[in-house]
Amino acid sequence: MCGIVGCIGNRSVTPIIVESLKRLEYRGYDSAGIATLNGAEIDITKTAGKISDLENILSLTNDACVGIGHTRWATHGIPSSTNAHPHTDCSGSFAVVHNGIIENFQALKDELTSKGHIFSSDTDTEVLAHLCEDCYNGDLEHAVREALLRVEGSYAIAVISDNEPEVIIAARKDSPLIVGLGDGENFLASDIPAIRKYTNKIIYIDDGEIVRLTRDNVTISTLQGVNVEKTVTIADGSIQDAERGGYEHFMLKEIHEQPKALRETMEDRLCELEGSIDFKELRLLEDEIKNIESITIIACGTSYHAGILGKYALEDLLRIPVKVEYSSEFRYNNFLSGKRSLAICISQSGETADTLAAMNEAKSQGYLTLAITNVVGSTITRKADEILLTKSGIEIGVAATKTFTAQILTLYMFGVYVARLKKLIDVETSRNIITSMKAVPGLIESLLDNISNIEKTSSRICEADCCYFIGRGLSYPIALEGALKMKEISYIKAEGFPAGELKHGPLALITADTPVIAIVPKGKTYYKTLGNIKEVKARNAFVIAIANASDDEIVKYVDSVIKIPDVDELFSPMLAAVALQLLAYYAAKYLGAEIDQPRNLAKSVTVE
Ligand code: G6P
Repeated sequence: MCGIVGCIGNRSVTPIIVESLKRLEYRGYDSAGIATLNGAEIDITKTAGKISDLENILSLTNDACVGIGHTRWATHGIPSSTNAHPHTDCSGSFAVVHNGIIENFQALKDELTSKGHIFSSDTDTEVLAHLCEDCYNGDLEHAVREALLRVEGSYAIAVISDNEPEVIIAARKDSPLIVGLGDGENFLASDIPAIRKYTNKIIYIDDGEIVRLTRDNVTISTLQGVNVEKTVTIADGSIQDAERGGYEHFMLKEIHEQPKALRETMEDRLCELEGSIDFKELRLLEDEIKNIESITIIACGTSYHAGILGKYALEDLLRIPVKVEYSSEFRYNNFLSGKRSLAICISQSGETADTLAAMNEAKSQGYLTLAITNVVGSTITRKADEILLTKSGIEIGVAATKTFTAQILTLYMFGVYVARLKKLIDVETSRNIITSMKAVPGLIESLLDNISNIEKTSSRICEADCCYFIGRGLSYPIALEGALKMKEISYIKAEGFPAGELKHGPLALITADTPVIAIVPKGKTYYKTLGNIKEVKARNAFVIAIANASDDEIVKYVDSVIKIPDVDELFSPMLAAVALQLLAYYAAKYLGAEIDQPRNLAKSVTVE
């Protein structure tokens, strides 16, 4: 994973690099470093810890105008100042930052060691610096090119050298990289928000491309040396999107942004009167989509949970088989697609390596691929056959919130869209679904206006070592997501189960006072889930129900109730999800956890 940044201009780059790294910290935050060039020599500062720790030891008087920086999520070697990037060669003349994994690093390291190179870190990245040293013949770009031709794996890299102090060389293969064009200065970074403060003129770098960055010029060529003409894109999105805006944490801000995110995701797509969904972006594929006979949804983490909900909704609407696969497992699936199979790849970041690899695999198996993502210009948008964007705005908190509910909404919209194409539902049925859909943002607003009970209930969970989330049908993926949110930000052990599966094993885990969070909205599975609640109550669990506002009975069966507004059953998962996000948030806050940057995790996982 990790985030990289580079800047070359006429002013001191240290504060720019620090500021940019702070915006990339969601990609990894166990160590960080910066290398600057003041014309004569490379100056490196690096440390274990966060960007704030790096900032504390940086020399603010450094007026170098060329530099590269890195924020790390460790893959090879523990988080330490030695393993932090930038890495250098033996002479200290080449400094490299890298996001990705050099898979053949051990063979290269052995070869370079036998030639006399001395390594000082446990990282895979360090071989790149030594390779540059080995290949250097007076031209840095040539050295980087030669080095990259020898490596296997994934990379977005930036390299500086005191031999050529007026240039930064960067390159990309399977890890994201963009260039930002300024006035007398140029930038590169893992994503746009990192440098959005300094420019909105962006060039997306593609796999196999190498970039030569000077103050006044950017040239791009392939690894084989063929020049490439690139389009400059004007980035939208305001800088404020990446600020906390008065909230204590990004996660809380993003939970509160859900009504807006959902409204924007629906905007211009819902035709209530006609009972149809207008996905203009899919028009060219309409015939193919109409003939789809099976669907496989591929995703990781929270996006996977949205995928399970999508399966329930799509099977119900389309009456065709829908499978959900973890991206990292998809390739081990021996069941090849038939013709007319659609792979829906869900990734909020559009950069998750496992999902990108699975999408490639799906393509090679003949699937039509549709990506659902939140990031315009992300790798997935450039590799999928077609894309549907969620319009949640940038999400910074590592724990996904607003992108999750927007993914569910998009899957539901897609279901209605295909059902209408295939003439499986009539206008009135789809109109009713759309009417309920449109009501969801307002209902979430009313839920967000009454959160004191959720905050109070969270303190009860904090007293326990572990807790369990149960639900059936549409509430089952929400149980999984509730548990994921709880464990990732509060570190309380939490597991989600289908409520009906409890008696087949997990019930053994229930002891007196164990918190069990039961998602039990009115609908098809209500009474069955109530039965499962009684089973855990009989074992003295402390049961918290997520139930509808109009459910006056539930209080008789449980110890505590979190009410969510009444809504069509199909949409109750979205409201329950918001309640559980808040439950996890307040539990984590109560325990003093680092909510936006949980230990060992990163928002964008760009390694397989
Ligand atoms: C990481 C994040 C999760 C996220 C998952 C998939 O593990 O910590 O919050 O759900 O990646 O991310 P994606 O960007 O592909 O949806």
